[in-house]
Amino acid sequence: MTSPAFDTVIRGGTLATASEVVRADLGIRDGRIAAIGIGLPEGAQELDATGRLVLPGGVDTHCHIEQLSGGGLMNADTFETATRSAAFGGTTSVISFAAQHRGASLARTVEDYAALARKGAIIDYAFHLMVANPDAQTIATDLPALIQAGHRSVKVFMTYDAVQVDDQALLDVMLSAREAGALVCVHAENHGLLKWMGERLAKRGYTAPKYHAVSHPRAAEVEAFHRLIAFSELLDTPICIFHVSTAEGAAVIREARGRGVKIYAETCPHYLLMTAAELDRPGIEGAKWICSPPQRETADQEALWRALALGDLQILSSDHAPYRFDASGKLSAGANPPFKQIANGMPGLEMRMPMLFDAMVSRGRLGLSKFVELTATAPARIYDLPGKGALAIGFDADIVLWDPQKTVTLTDALHCNTGYNPFAGRSITGWPETVLRRGEIIVADGALRAEAGSGRLLLREAGEATRPTGRLAPEFDPARNFGAELY
Ligand code: URP
Ligand code: ZN
Ligand code: ZN
Repeated sequence: MTSPAFDTVIRGGTLATASEVVRADLGIRDGRIAAIGIGLPEGAQELDATGRLVLPGGVDTHCHIEQLSGGGLMNADTFETATRSAAFGGTTSVISFAAQHRGASLARTVEDYAALARKGAIIDYAFHLMVANPDAQTIATDLPALIQAGHRSVKVFMTYDAVQVDDQALLDVMLSAREAGALVCVHAENHGLLKWMGERLAKRGYTAPKYHAVSHPRAAEVEAFHRLIAFSELLDTPICIFHVSTAEGAAVIREARGRGVKIYAETCPHYLLMTAAELDRPGIEGAKWICSPPQRETADQEALWRALALGDLQILSSDHAPYRFDASGKLSAGANPPFKQIANGMPGLEMRMPMLFDAMVSRGRLGLSKFVELTATAPARIYDLPGKGALAIGFDADIVLWDPQKTVTLTDALHCNTGYNPFAGRSITGWPETVLRRGEIIVADGALRAEAGSGRLLLREAGEATRPTGRLAPEFDPARNFGAELY
């Protein structure tokens, strides 16, 4: 008797890629996509996808998992709880932060963090190298070695007292990353302006959560974007600007991309689907929605959608940053803390894909192929995640069978450890039903079917996004600077 042609065939569904939507079957062998066609031969396992969309698993490239915050508080999630939550939401790969803190070794940070991921991760993962201790060992030795070992993205904060790097350190990191072949990802807000605003508000007694939004003027984003882009241009270092929140910020990126600066940029569901009004709730309740930068206005939402449509922004990430609404998290500084002492961030891994599907497909913004591109294909390509983010022969069979008709009214129940859902109360249409990771079913019938530790580390080669443009700034051209070699 001959063995079946495939381990699994997903039959009768509608496949959606970043460019096509087509009725076809999909055959999986050895964890990879082996065939796409009509009437494929039988598989050892047959999955009926009639009435379902067949999508590449989501790729979420900005997640804080089992990480100390800038304020020194541990996230509510372990790798196990965060990646479980991701899987239930249709996401099959994440990039989280191996976060160095002041005085710490970057090499040791990555080693320790990798051990946590090996133990807990349920889906595949890669790391951003977060630099907060930019000493000579980090810049000249650890960073290049770790980049060359396959951690091809670096993260820096331009704000937050405990982790912020100053301009000189930022330049050091950018040059080191450029030389070793990594993309530099940045939380870009003007630190001095945020501190100044925060202190003025506090002195006048404006401490409720709603003042968090006031304390982050949009100029903080605009100024930091300009400064970062100037550095990127000077050093010819490719960058990715994280969580763009304002119309003005998106315009700065558009203008710089237009003159050929190599900039990628992301935004997140909470900037597209929430405004600062979320923070204005009775008592301390608004703390649940505090994140940085804060949610803005409806005009910003429109500008961000337009920037996504035009390609100025290429990635939709969650910025999953989970803290419980209790003394272990949001209320660690007391029952009614001033907004400055409230941990920044919200859970986002599980709701990213469903919220965006509802907005983009069910409600018709940008459509299905753009949804696939922004939530899976583009992030995988930009961050060089091998075999991820697309339905293509030879790619990992990371696949979601998606019910486009199912309407769900969201509650606080998520599969992470945060204890609340910032989108609770909303009704959305479209839901991830069955999730496969490298050909194995990991979520079906509302149950998890994978073990903690079964996710794999994704090491990355330097790809297109990490390659400098080759346009040397005049200040770095020895021929124009009395022979001075500065690279
Ligand atoms: O408010 C947020 N997003 N906190 C997480 C840290 C960051 O800024 O990305
Ligand atoms: Zn950030
Ligand atoms: Zn973040």
